[in-house]
Amino acid sequence: MSAPRGQFSSNFGFLMAAAGSAVGLGNIWGFPTNVAANGGAAFVVVYLILAFILAYPVLMAELAIGRHARRNMVQALRGISTGPVSRGAGTLAGFGGIVVASLILSFYAIVAGWMLAHLADPFVTLVGAERSAEWLTANSAARNFTFTAIFSGLTMAIIAAGVEKGIERWSTLLMPSLIILLLLLIAYVLSQPGAIAGLEAYLMPDFSELSPELMLSAMGQAFFSLSLGVGTMLIYGSYLSKQESLPRLGALVTLIDVGIAFTAGLLIVPAMYVAQEAGTQIFSDGGQLMAGPDLILQVLPALFDTMGTSGLFVAIAFFALMTIASLTSSISMLEVPVAFCIENLGLKRRPATLLVGLVIFCISSVIIFNFGALFGLVVSVSTEYGQPILGIALCIFAGWIWRRDQLLKELQEGHPDIEKTLFWKIWPWYVRLVCPLLILAAFIQSVL
Ligand code: PHE
Repeated sequence: MSAPRGQFSSNFGFLMAAAGSAVGLGNIWGFPTNVAANGGAAFVVVYLILAFILAYPVLMAELAIGRHARRNMVQALRGISTGPVSRGAGTLAGFGGIVVASLILSFYAIVAGWMLAHLADPFVTLVGAERSAEWLTANSAARNFTFTAIFSGLTMAIIAAGVEKGIERWSTLLMPSLIILLLLLIAYVLSQPGAIAGLEAYLMPDFSELSPELMLSAMGQAFFSLSLGVGTMLIYGSYLSKQESLPRLGALVTLIDVGIAFTAGLLIVPAMYVAQEAGTQIFSDGGQLMAGPDLILQVLPALFDTMGTSGLFVAIAFFALMTIASLTSSISMLEVPVAFCIENLGLKRRPATLLVGLVIFCISSVIIFNFGALFGLVVSVSTEYGQPILGIALCIFAGWIWRRDQLLKELQEGHPDIEKTLFWKIWPWYVRLVCPLLILAAFIQSVL
């Protein structure tokens, strides 16, 4: 009855799409500022460890369940269930994933809209349209509404084109551009006065900063950054061919994500110190390095302003980088509810995309017009509560509910000699016991 299911045409295509989902504002903005605020390299070390011992195993659970089921999160979790209770729990967790992915997209699209507005700013400045430039950079509901709409439209256009022609094609085009832009910007910033002090702040470890809170922010950062808990990696896994080795691809995605986060730190933190050299304040009143919107939307633009005409080009490159990173992530979020509408409600891809995209845009609009009350709330409900709770649910499904022989068989697909690996010996137990307990412990600590 329905059209054949989409599939990534190549290993590389999947890798770019999954890495594209993972690499986003969380890497380029969240990670460097977390590092600078939490003891420099001490945070980097903790993050690296957590990314591999905690986030990677959960990523593997999502990829394996998705590829096995070849369905969206609701159907996939129901499919591996063995009785009415687990089936009910699967439905609940599956819908939970859809709701949380949609909520994350609703605020992410607003922030990405800021990036787009700042990308447009140097162009209108170049042609001398000063009033437009002011409008673009001042934080108003009208501007936010306009640019969230444009960004949501772009996300919808890519998803409407499907897995291979939309997600894969754009990710393979955008991800290499992102890396090139990032490297060019780093080369430029590191050649400016003040950059070395920034490098030091970023890289010198201060292990006295190690604390439970640091662990917690590192875990949250790893979960958000690898797009876990909401079914994005599950759905991308469901489009992956059985000929590929899951543990290897999963490890590559984790490496790329961590690698780009670390590399982004070589840009952002030194750029802040260059801005300080040029006279901009980079520490908040409490003495902390600025981390929130002020950093990206004020400190860095102030720096670009001091660079004259070349600053306009640097600004374009920087906000293009941020927009690209956002777009390859936002498409993965939108695919979660869209795949559900296609597979469970029998809608065609285009109407499904339009419907879901518009609903999420309405949520973004409500947030925009009630920004003070809703923005922080939606961010915390979806990322501090939704992601860890669903992460635990996914581990329980992979480790306890899914039939062990089926899970092991799925891991063997595309990796015939997997039985010789450490992964094979450790992971199936690890995802059963260690992961859920670690996430639970961190979660309880964060809500207490
Ligand atoms: N990983 C993305 C980032 O780092 C955010 C994301 C979260 C994407 C959840 C999809 C799902 O910005």
